[in-house]
Amino acid sequence: MAHFPEGFLWGASTAAHQVEGNNTNSDFWLMENLEGSVFAEPSGSAVDHYIRFKEDIAEMAKMGLNAYRFSLEWARIEPEEGQYDAAEIAHYRDVLLTCKEYQITPIVTLHHFSSPQWLIRLGGWESAETPAKFARYCTHVMRELGEWIPYVCTINEANISIGIKKIMKRYELKSGSPGAQVGMNMEKMAQMQKYYMELSKAFGVPPTEVHSFLAPRSEEGLAVIFQAHVAAREAIRQISPQTKVGVTLSLYDIQSAPGGEENAKEAWQEEFLQFVSYLQEDDFFGLQNYTRAVYGPDGLLPIPENAETTQMGNEYYPEALGAVVRYVSQHLKMPIMITENGVATDDDTRRVAFIDRALKGVHTCISDGYQILGYMHWSLMDNFEWQLGFSKRFGLIAVDRATQERTVKPSGYHLGNIARRNAI
Ligand code: NOJ
Repeated sequence: MAHFPEGFLWGASTAAHQVEGNNTNSDFWLMENLEGSVFAEPSGSAVDHYIRFKEDIAEMAKMGLNAYRFSLEWARIEPEEGQYDAAEIAHYRDVLLTCKEYQITPIVTLHHFSSPQWLIRLGGWESAETPAKFARYCTHVMRELGEWIPYVCTINEANISIGIKKIMKRYELKSGSPGAQVGMNMEKMAQMQKYYMELSKAFGVPPTEVHSFLAPRSEEGLAVIFQAHVAAREAIRQISPQTKVGVTLSLYDIQSAPGGEENAKEAWQEEFLQFVSYLQEDDFFGLQNYTRAVYGPDGLLPIPENAETTQMGNEYYPEALGAVVRYVSQHLKMPIMITENGVATDDDTRRVAFIDRALKGVHTCISDGYQILGYMHWSLMDNFEWQLGFSKRFGLIAVDRATQERTVKPSGYHLGNIARRNAI
């Protein structure tokens, strides 16, 4: 048996928009329901976690887990600029108190992709005003709820674009005309152009500016996101000094095939190293990893034909986690919280094996002296995988969306047993 440090946090993650249901004031709700939407389906009532959170938290405790990472929905808490909804604060207080009742340590994310519609209308994550607006929301949340929040992640996956821009990035729409895109057929292009027009109307952005508004991975946009993190960190520190603050980044295990060393180095720079200066005063680093990315002399290599893949089209490669933990530990001197790691599959035996292989790597890092606070599996339950809809299954718990009935999968019991033993 390989033991983990005492007090190690064992849990699972969710995000408000993906599980709660009826997040009607959010930008995503609007995007999902527009004509010509690129979403496979709208989020609708999702998996009804807004109503069933008590049952879900009780189940986690029964499984053996001792931590829960979830997000608060800004669009619920501040549905109109400057107007806070006390009932929504009371709701999240109830969630936090339920965690307490079951001795589950909450790890709270303040922003997980979805934003209030009013924020997007005011320029969203491209606007220099947004960091102050985000910090103001964080101040309100921490004033009301800070005493029950030991760990806070300001922004989820701050190194990739947020919301609407992220969706467009998946469609590989670089700035410029969508018509200029290679590899997109006429029908798809027409649909996208129509959708752009709908977005332009919905968010009050002039059609001529839709492209820059949506510009994926724009440097200004990423700077705004990290400035928002820094502003939020300051605000949280003032109100709730006992809360540990971090951010989460999405990291591939970047590897190089022969001749790809320079490209791999550049990829680490782009994915992680360029942001390190913003993180220096954080209390912990939230690490999220799903697979690897291998670079050759001409850039990113395709996944080998014989490799096992997941429902997301990623290579099934659990060893990526340990490698990323090691890389980050060597470049950033602060404790790591693994805030997401998991696999989309209908074959739960593959999830069990994934957990075992991933944790082996984590344990080796701990033996080598790196400080790791916990492991949050993505996800607690099957949920709304953004534009891909409900068909991608990451959960430790299955949900029948017709009845909202929950069934713990063998992988859920498996992770729970590891948590109870605190060992693999
Ligand atoms: C990253 C995101 O934080 C989460 O929202 C998403 O569902 C998972 N990874 C899986 O793609």
